[in-house]
Amino acid sequence: MQTLAGRDYHAPEVFEIERERVFARNWFYAGRADALSEPGDFANIDVAGESVIVVCGNDGGLRGFYNVCRHRGSRLCDGASGRMKGAVKCPYHAWAYSFEGELIGTPNVGKDEIDRSQLGLWPVDVEVWQGFLFVHLDPDPQPLEEWLGAQHDHPCKFSRFHLDQLRTGHTTVTAVEANWKIVIENYNECLHCPTVHPELVQVVPAFRKGAVFEKNRADGGVGLAEGGTSFTANGKSRFEVMPGLDEHDATSLYGCTVYPNMFIDVTGTSAISTILLPRGAGHTTVITEYLFRPEAIADPGFDPSEIVDFVELVAHQDYVVCERVQRGVRSRAFTHGVLAEKDSLLDEFNARYLAERGPVD
Ligand code: FES
Ligand SMILES: [Fe+2]
Repeated sequence: MQTLAGRDYHAPEVFEIERERVFARNWFYAGRADALSEPGDFANIDVAGESVIVVCGNDGGLRGFYNVCRHRGSRLCDGASGRMKGAVKCPYHAWAYSFEGELIGTPNVGKDEIDRSQLGLWPVDVEVWQGFLFVHLDPDPQPLEEWLGAQHDHPCKFSRFHLDQLRTGHTTVTAVEANWKIVIENYNECLHCPTVHPELVQVVPAFRKGAVFEKNRADGGVGLAEGGTSFTANGKSRFEVMPGLDEHDATSLYGCTVYPNMFIDVTGTSAISTILLPRGAGHTTVITEYLFRPEAIADPGFDPSEIVDFVELVAHQDYVVCERVQRGVRSRAFTHGVLAEKDSLLDEFNARYLAERGPVD
């Protein structure tokens, strides 16, 4: 079995095709929905170069829009997130849109000059699953849960953890100089674990053998050493096990990829969601959200550093090798790499990717 072709990882023309055929035609993970709880709260999401805003309306509902003014095309909002007062206002000629997207103000332009009813913001579909907010650029997308149900990593099995009840306790943002597919491929194999992650293999013994899965376990999870309940250096934690988990789930680590831009990792005490924001053929911004029970965050002594420090250590070990791969695959000698048996998840990813993307020429 082969990897993708070398230029699939670095050619700008391949990235241009992906923007249309992959990122505009799949649900795209945008971040946790609970950050948008008051009217005017907004998030600004870069969907592989297409700027989308999601706004909380006066009715509490979330709506997505292209971040483009209908007047002359100015970008409307800057910044990753914030709260708008009263309306979405364009900084150019001050046209105003309601949080529901209707054009409601056009200073110095009479109502009879233009048909405001036809000039609302261009909509983008938004759906929430388990507190995770997704956007979809294509009109009439497949319903989110149905689309999730067809994912080869079966993220729907995570519903039992009630991730919708969790809140974000910490967030990190890292610029990684690697193609988004290299980051996903790296997440989906553990042949590199014994070399790259000496600390990780201490706490997840199954990873020592280079396997992503544990033998004799059909649920896709791996056990933490000595009954650990958390993604820390020794698996031990100051945090309580989340309510409703049995001993087996409480002492396991479950990970999954949601194609094309999300990872979810769950342990007994917390969860981690990861957003990949592809910025170009060789650049990906990785946002890591650390999710905890609300009562743990409300504790005045809340300190997630035992988890954040360990996960960031492992993540940065991954970013270093991803960037090495990015430099290597540019070589004219690299036509394809090879996939071993334990790289089977990469093969599944590549098959879906190639079916969606189609030929480049
Ligand atoms: S471009 Fe937005 S008001 Fe003119
Ligand atoms: Fe890794």
